[in-house]
Amino acid sequence: MSELESIESEALGAVQAAADLAALDAVRVAELGKKGRISAFMKTLGKMTPEERQVAGPLLNALKTRVADAVAARKTVLEDAALDAQLATEYEDLTLPPPPEPVGALHPVMQVFEEMAAIFGTMGFAVAEGPDIEDDWHNFTALNFPEGHPARETHDTFFMNNPEGGAPKVLRTHTSPVQIRTMMEQKPPIRIIAPGRVYRNDWDATHTPMFHQVEGLVIEKGIHMGHLKGCLIDFVKAFFEVDTVEARFRPHFFPFTEPSAEMDVKYTKKGDSIQIGQGDSWMEILGSGMVHPNVLRNCGIDPDEYQGFAFGMGVDRLAMLKYGMPDLRPYFEADPEWTRHYGFAPWLTPTVSGGLS
Ligand code: DAH
Repeated sequence: MSELESIESEALGAVQAAADLAALDAVRVAELGKKGRISAFMKTLGKMTPEERQVAGPLLNALKTRVADAVAARKTVLEDAALDAQLATEYEDLTLPPPPEPVGALHPVMQVFEEMAAIFGTMGFAVAEGPDIEDDWHNFTALNFPEGHPARETHDTFFMNNPEGGAPKVLRTHTSPVQIRTMMEQKPPIRIIAPGRVYRNDWDATHTPMFHQVEGLVIEKGIHMGHLKGCLIDFVKAFFEVDTVEARFRPHFFPFTEPSAEMDVKYTKKGDSIQIGQGDSWMEILGSGMVHPNVLRNCGIDPDEYQGFAFGMGVDRLAMLKYGMPDLRPYFEADPEWTRHYGFAPWLTPTVSGGLS
């Protein structure tokens, strides 16, 4: 083996053996640096005869290039390894830990409130709230229930003690007073739903002293019964997740709407479950009507300028219908087994596009 060949194999061996960048640089300096071994050989070229130089020059240059290439290649390998090592030590695990096992579940009534807010939200309705303890004016008088009118008695009102005398407060018998509160606070156009608890002195298989309603109110210019019907039919389709709903609006009486109508939908009974939309029987699902001019006037809205419609529905019964729950009473017994069985994951917020139930 010539001297140059052994230098090359030594140099390349040292390059491969360099375990880190500092060791590699030491090899580079020892071979190719100013005082390096290969550089020293290059210097001998000057002392050679032209013939000798013609032979030795290309050999030495090629050797120098091969060693320099090997150093560069090894450098890339060592730099990559150094970066990998740094990334491995500086790694932060940003993934969330697995969620805890769910211990509770969302009550079906709360789920249905969320579903209704999602459906009416897509139609431009905001959610409004009012107090559970109401005064007689908001709960009755402003809603056009005349003093002493028998309609007040049909509500089986719970009255609060009033030690100071005067008209006692009541536990609100319906969510309709939120209509009044909204119209007193906001200028039209108004488009709200008001979900909430309501109270009546009633207790049997289908009535509980506290239950839930969702109220709706639209006040704008040029509103008519067609808007009411379209809005409620669209709602029922979305809520029961069906394409067709046969509905009828049956004349009724409510003091705060004129005309008033109850909405019935067709349904089919299949074994124990009920399918809403089509079938041979009618079921009443909500009350509705055009807001009575007196109610608008009571809230300072000119009925010649603005019209509106309103509706109110019992949420507990709609939840029973949608989710096939046979009895109302367990709703309020706070039995965790029942809630787990019929309840919903609290973090699955219903949306119209992503799915309601
Ligand atoms: N407040 C009524 C009730 O509890 C339900 C209702 C009927 C509300 C018609 C309305 C409506 O807004 O327009 O029986």
